Formats: sequence, C-alpha cells, structure tokens
Amino acid sequence: MVVVASSVFILLLTVLSRSSHAAPGRNTCDSLENGYQCRPNVTHHWGQYSSYFSVPSDISDEIPHGCRVTFAQVLSRHGARDPTTYKTALYKVLVDNIQRSVTSFKGKYSFLKNYEYSLGAEQLSVFGQQQMFNSGAKFYNRYGALAGQNPLFIRTTVSHRVIVSAENFTQGYHEMMRHDKDASRKGDYPYSPVVLDKNQGPNVTLSHNLCDAYERRNRSISDEARETWASVFIPPIWTRLHRDLPGLDSVNLRLSDIVLLMDLCPFETVASPTGAISPFCYLFSEQEWQQYSYFKSVNTYYAFSHGATLGPTQGVGWVNELIARMTASPVEDVTSVNHTLDDDTKTFPVGKGHVLFADFGHDNGMTTIFSAMGLYNDTKPLAFDHLDSAKTNGGYSAAWTVPFAARMYVEKMECEGEKKELVRVIVNDRVQPLKQCGADRLGRCTLDAFVSSLEFARNGGKWDKCFT
Ligand SMILES: *[C@@H]1O[C@H](CO)[C@@H](O)[C@H](O)[C@H]1NC(C)=O
Ligand SMILES: *[C@@H]1O[C@H](CO)[C@@H](O)[C@H](O)[C@H]1NC(C)=O
Ligand SMILES: *[C@@H]1O[C@H](CO)[C@@H](O)[C@H](O)[C@H]1NC(C)=O
Ligand SMILES: *[C@@H]1O[C@H](CO)[C@@H](O)[C@H](O)[C@H]1NC(C)=O
Ligand SMILES: *[C@@H]1O[C@H](CO)[C@@H](O)[C@H](O)[C@H]1NC(C)=O
Ligand SMILES: *[C@@H]1O[C@H](CO)[C@@H](O)[C@H](O)[C@H]1NC(C)=O
Repeated sequence: MVVVASSVFILLLTVLSRSSHAAPGRNTCDSLENGYQCRPNVTHHWGQYSSYFSVPSDISDEIPHGCRVTFAQVLSRHGARDPTTYKTALYKVLVDNIQRSVTSFKGKYSFLKNYEYSLGAEQLSVFGQQQMFNSGAKFYNRYGALAGQNPLFIRTTVSHRVIVSAENFTQGYHEMMRHDKDASRKGDYPYSPVVLDKNQGPNVTLSHNLCDAYERRNRSISDEARETWASVFIPPIWTRLHRDLPGLDSVNLRLSDIVLLMDLCPFETVASPTGAISPFCYLFSEQEWQQYSYFKSVNTYYAFSHGATLGPTQGVGWVNELIARMTASPVEDVTSVNHTLDDDTKTFPVGKGHVLFADFGHDNGMTTIFSAMGLYNDTKPLAFDHLDSAKTNGGYSAAWTVPFAARMYVEKMECEGEKKELVRVIVNDRVQPLKQCGADRLGRCTLDAFVSSLEFARNGGKWDKCFT
C-alpha cells in the first residue's frame, strides 16, 4: 500500500511539473497523455487486449481556438484486467500440457521451461488501476475548467473491476483538482457512483446482453467469421511452433489453442505493474500481431457492431441518455433505459449544474453504443482476408476503439462567431468526424444536427426484433 501510495504521489509530482509525462517505476514509453506507446508495432495490435494508447487522428483533438467547452461526457472501459475465469482455466491447462510434452525449450522459448502460470481471474490489475488513475487525471486536465460549479456525475456497471476502475478514475481526477490553483474547483471525496446492477433488473444501458433473440441466435455469425480468419493466419504459426518445439505433437493443439497462447502476451504484459512486455510477445512476428488484432476486430465487428443485426440496437438506450444529458431534457427511450432511475434527478440529473458525466462499463457494450451513434458506419464489412485495417477502414479496429481503459469523449463547445453549440466525438484521442450530420473541418456538428442524426437511436433501433 505504501509503495503504491508513494508512487502515485511521485507520479503526481511528475505530472504536475509537466516536465515529463513518464510515471516513475513505469516504462518511459507509457504516459498519462499518450498512454501505452511501448513497441507500438506489437502492442497496438492486440485487439481489445491492447492497453489504451493515443490513436492517430487526422484532426487535432485540442480544444479549437476561440472555443469554450460547455459539456463533457466520458464513456470508459475498465482498465487492464486478468483473464476471465473461463479463459484463465484454459490458459493454465494449455501451459501445463505444453510444459509436460515439449522436450526442449531453446532460444526465445527458453523462458517457457520454468514459466509458472499465475494469472488470476476477472480483477483489475495494478497496471489497470494506474491506467484509470491516469485517465481521470487526463480528463481533469482537459475538462477541469467545468469542474467549479459542476460535480462529476458517475455511473458504473456492477462488476467489481468496473467499480474499482471508476474509483481509480476519480482518484486521478480528484488529485488533479486538489492541485488546481483555481480554488473554486474543490469538491468532496469520495464521489458516489450510481451502480447499474443487472441483478436487480434487466434494464441496464451500460451492458449489452438484453436482446434475447440476438444473444440466442446471431452470435454464431461472429464465431464463423473469427474461425474463417483463424484458418487463414494460424496454420503457418502452428507449423512453426511444431518445428521449434520437439514433442509438441502430443498436445494435439487446435488452431484456437494458438490464439490462446498468443493471448498470454497481452495478459502477462498487463499483469506486470509496469507493463513490461512479456516474453510471450516475442514468440510471434509483428505481422502475426496484426493478424491477431484483426481476428479480435472481426469478432467484435460481427458480434457487437454493424456486422451484427442487433449489435447497434443494443447501444440505443445509452445514446438516448446521452441526448437527454446534452439537451437537458428527460430521457425518451423504449429500449434498455431504466426509467425508475432515469426519471429521478438523484440517479439521472440533467440541466443546470450537470455538464460533467463519466460512465464506466465494458468493451462490448461500448462497441454497441459506438455503432448506435453511427460511428464507424462507413467501415466496409470486415472481410476476413486482410490485416488489421484501422488506418484505411474508417478508424475501425478493436485496438483503436475498445482497448483496456478506452475512453470516448463527447463534448459540446461554444465558439466565437458561431451562435449554435457544437458537438465533437473523440475516441481514444482520435477525433471521429461526424459525417452523418455534415461535420465541419474540425469534425463537429451543431447540437441540433447531431441529435437529428441520431435517428436510429431515437427510433429505438430494431428493438422490436430483440424478443421475437
Ligand atoms: C513498425 O512497422 C512499420 C511498418 O510495418 C515499419 O516501417 C517500422 O520500421 C516498424 N518500426 C519498428 C520500430 O520496428
Ligand atoms: C485504485 O483503487 C483501489 C481501491 O480504492 C486502491 O486500493 C488502489 O490503490 C487504487 N490504485 C491507484 C493506482 O490509485
Ligand atoms: C431499475 O432500477 C431499480 C434500482 O436499481 C431496480 O430496483 C429495478 O429492478 C430496475 N428495473 C428494471 C426493469 O431493470
Ligand atoms: C440473425 O438471426 C435472424 C434470425 O435467425 C436471421 O434472420 C438474420 O439473418 C441473422 N442475421 C445475420 C446477420 O445473419
Ligand atoms: C424496461 O424496459 C422495457 C423495454 O423497453 C420497458 O417496457 C420497461 O418499462 C422498462 N422498465 C423500467 C423500469 O424502465
Ligand atoms: C448507418 O448508415 C446507414 C446508411 O446511411 C443508415 O441506414 C443507418 O441507420 C446508420 N446506422 C446508424 C446506427 O446510424
């Protein structure tokens, strides 16, 4: 505890002095402003198991000159975590089998001989906590000017790692506020989030698994898509591993086991408090990491985004809440909104004094929400035959959109010489030009045009198909 506390303190000094963005005890290639930038050719190609990094943006994400931000909403994924309970059991068995069967580990494989599988399950890692602390600090640095009269209103899902993520975010946010020279910006700590608990009722806008029909029938599409791509990129890796590791034959590895083995690279990396790159990462080439990331993107796209019939529909509830917050009006929604919560100003405040919002959830829910907003709508269907294509394909990839500690900012601003409020959407520091409402050269639309463009959400998406 003492160690963590003092390193956080030193981190703060570093951040506050602004002489350097590197946190002590961490890699110098990891920073509050730009996230995880260590060996980007490898680490930025881990799909949703990547750690937040500043995504290249064609439009600067700076607050434009002559503009003043009047509203900010962050929608955040939790920080880096252990594997899920289900996966952690699979990884352990796989490692055991490999160690039992292979007779000699040489060169880059030699670490495997004495490697002990010790990853836990489900919980936020120390590295993940730091990501969220940094994320809160960064949010304050960007939007702190609004913090004076306006408390930060927070919601999370009920999952432990999400709740702790929100807590660490507020710790970073609050530390920045405490050190803010503007004395008017002082609030009480701790902040108390509204927890959206799916165990108490099904209407939860930060989770995705409400569309019964979809969950039962259509998920096989993403399984097929994923397997098709795996059958393209995995066989050469399979062959190489069998050549390099005598005895591996007797494990009878399936193609999907190779993907599991690759997963250990990101998970071991984020299990290191400093984010030190795991030796598992060096067993595969840069091109293979791109192929792996594409595998994760294909799955996400066909399970939760435009590639899934009811993917975007599952994000509609949250988008209608966003509209309510941005227009200071009651929530109108017939999908996943819980009106008991949203019609109560204690659990869903809108209007004067309520312009700073932070919601915390999971990658899949965020993907449905991005899709319901029409983001990445010009992504061509991912075709399972090429590499991770974020740069050429509308900015869509799981690594660019929903890495650990991913964050979308939705901001409103007032600008000199412009009577109407403008809206901008920024995903992991990449400005997403709002083409659907006629974006200007800075990617922005007027609030009216933005809300009109959210017709899909305002009409409830295809919610009627969810239960048929
Ligand atoms: C990263 O990848 C790019 C494109 O494949 C390549 O040009 C560059 O040399 C690589 N950088 C490093 C540090 O390996
Ligand atoms: C994250 O929050 C937990 C729970 O309050 C705390 O124990 C931990 O020290 C925090 N981590 C960081 C990096 O602030
Ligand atoms: C709405 O939220 C309240 C408070 O958490 C809960 O008691 C209720 O069951 C929820 N209703 C639905 C339909 O989810
Ligand atoms: C999803 O399932 C429904 C019902 O089985 C089917 O009609 C629809 O074509 C499926 N969607 C896709 C994209 O295959
Ligand atoms: C939960 O959602 C259903 C479907 O949209 C809706 O009919 C119901 O009124 C909602 N319940 C609450 C408490 O908002
Ligand atoms: C995406 O674009 C298509 C074609 O313009 C449109 O029909 C659809 O409603 C859009 N989806 C969303 C979620 O905005």
